Amino acid sequence: MRGVLITGTDTGVGKTFVAALVCRAHPSATYVKPVQTGLADAEADAAVVARIAGVQARQGPGFDEALAPAVAAERAARTVTRAQLLGAFSGLDEVVGEGAGGLLVELGTDGTTLADLAADLNLPLVVVARPGLGTLNHTRLTCEAAWARGLRVAGIVVNGFPDVPDVAEETNLNGLAAFAPLLAVVPRHEPGAALPAVPDLVAAAAS
Ligand SMILES: Nc1ncnc2c1ncn2[C@@H]1O[C@H](COP(=O)(O)OP(=O)(O)OP(=O)(O)O)[C@@H](O)[C@H]1O
Ligand SMILES: [Mg+2]
Repeated sequence: MRGVLITGTDTGVGKTFVAALVCRAHPSATYVKPVQTGLADAEADAAVVARIAGVQARQGPGFDEALAPAVAAERAARTVTRAQLLGAFSGLDEVVGEGAGGLLVELGTDGTTLADLAADLNLPLVVVARPGLGTLNHTRLTCEAAWARGLRVAGIVVNGFPDVPDVAEETNLNGLAAFAPLLAVVPRHEPGAALPAVPDLVAAAAS
């Protein structure tokens, strides 16, 4: 299996948006969301990516409450196992997977994290990061947690970069690039504007 797993420094940093852009750059890939929460209030990430990128999209177990997946599952009196999470990827050749929240959030009620799935699937991680103050620490913590587990970090995508950056946003790009490859800087996107392009990270991950 080829591809990347998209993680981020936090929830809401733009993993789904970046995953959709990566899928647009490599439309033969299938988007995979191994577990989804928050279905009561929001469109599922797989539906968002299918709508934006027009690619095949798969989803594992889904839960209504907008909580960490293991917590949402427990509150719904359900279990989510590592095998189920991995099952969402089964049989696929090219994948763009997305976790929930950050790297070490428990996706399964058995404690499985996206880091575990990255190890099992032998796929590199892409870390989506905010541009502003605080991102150097959050991004480095995420990368170091991945490296400590022997995982590959393909690099960082800075998402939501403003037209007029402040000093922190401007200087953070060099700071981030100093410890992992800066794969793309995705601008803040205005509705109706053309979608930004990112490099083909699926092809790059395979080479
Ligand atoms: N570059 C951008 N410009 C403008 N809006 C963006 C950008 N990236 C993401 N957004 C918006 O920010 C919100 C959060 O983004 P997104 O859903 O991609 O985050 P996420 O990290 O996938 O969140 P979750 O942890 O819930 O999966 C969405 O409404 C999305 O449309
Ligand atoms: Mg998402």
